[in-house]
Amino acid sequence: MLDVGRIKQDFPILGQQVHSRRLVYLDNAATTQKPRQVIDALVRYYETTNANIHRGIHTLAVQATDQYEDVRTKAAAHIGASNPQDIVFTRNTTESINLVARAWGDTNLGEGDEIVLSLMEHHSNIVPWQLLARRTGAVLRFIDFRDDGTLDLDQARGLIGERTKLVSIVHMSNVLGTINPVAELAEMAHAAGALLLVDGAQSAPHLPVDVTQLGCDFFGFSLHKMLGPTGVGVLWAKPGLLEEMEPFLGGGEMIAIVKPEGSTWADVPHKFEAGTPNIADVIASGAAFDYLRELGMDSVREHEKAITAYAMDSLQRIPGVSIHGPLDVEQRGGAVSFSMDCAHPHDISTIVDGHGVAIRAGHHCAQLLMRRLGVPATSRGSFAIQRRCRCAHRGVAACEEDVC
Ligand code: ALA
Repeated sequence: MLDVGRIKQDFPILGQQVHSRRLVYLDNAATTQKPRQVIDALVRYYETTNANIHRGIHTLAVQATDQYEDVRTKAAAHIGASNPQDIVFTRNTTESINLVARAWGDTNLGEGDEIVLSLMEHHSNIVPWQLLARRTGAVLRFIDFRDDGTLDLDQARGLIGERTKLVSIVHMSNVLGTINPVAELAEMAHAAGALLLVDGAQSAPHLPVDVTQLGCDFFGFSLHKMLGPTGVGVLWAKPGLLEEMEPFLGGGEMIAIVKPEGSTWADVPHKFEAGTPNIADVIASGAAFDYLRELGMDSVREHEKAITAYAMDSLQRIPGVSIHGPLDVEQRGGAVSFSMDCAHPHDISTIVDGHGVAIRAGHHCAQLLMRRLGVPATSRGSFAIQRRCRCAHRGVAACEEDVC
């Protein structure tokens, strides 16, 4: 069981008041707060190490390079990847997906080829494929979800076929909380000769992830949603794939030899990290990986399941409230969207903000999903490790909060 009292002390921002009430931060799906360990790592880097990487051979440059590459190893370990060289640092999950759309998609897709997505995708896993379709003549297909918020696998089986070149699917929905059966989709995609990309923006922070068990070919996630700084994303590709792909951005450090008539590329992953990367934030991300590893992702998942069950129980007791997404915590994560009769989500968010409670209201960058639900927006509370609640009957420490 997580020691939430101790964990909360690591988050300086949670000590403050908003509208004269203690801050209750329930917008972790948008971005998580940062523990002192991550903030300290960022300051320490600038105070003691700051230098460009993979260039200089002076002491600071070597230290910065070693620290940066050490985080690549931690990123690989976080998702069960065996080889850090299969990890590319990007700015965020969005950039990771755009990288694949450009560097893999432009070469491998043509007129009439199909990309299969779902109606619960974030815009970051829709728009890059729409742009690719415009460039190549490829076609997008969408798997629907059932009324209980689970993916319609029967429809997926019908949609994934010989024209499919790529299935790109969210692991955990940022709106419904649904955890999708990625391994089954990987089997379907591979049987059709297609690849599978997984948007892990909401899963990597909250679930134990093993890319080998998932059977995917690409996996992207962002550090700012998992206690790390903004501006750091990760793309993992199955061994061998990065080598086959064209560069995404051109510039310094991604080359081997530059001649007037053309250039050759650096080995992976550097081929995909043009220019000076976000060195400080990558290095501070190492502290976020350490923090989660020390807690243990199994414990994180168990803790968040209990909080989510408590939140859904409580919401269902409020007249006029309906939850979107699975009600079984085994099938979902801690992003809980809801609608309330006669109350607009923006009003709900504004009212609870007056009590110091931060939730998100809006379309959550998922307009296809909103249209499918038949609502313009939802309210969403999203949980992480620093919450505890009044649910001792579920094995979670007794609540010391006014609001859970
Ligand atoms: N994708 C983030 C969210 O769901 C921004 O809030």
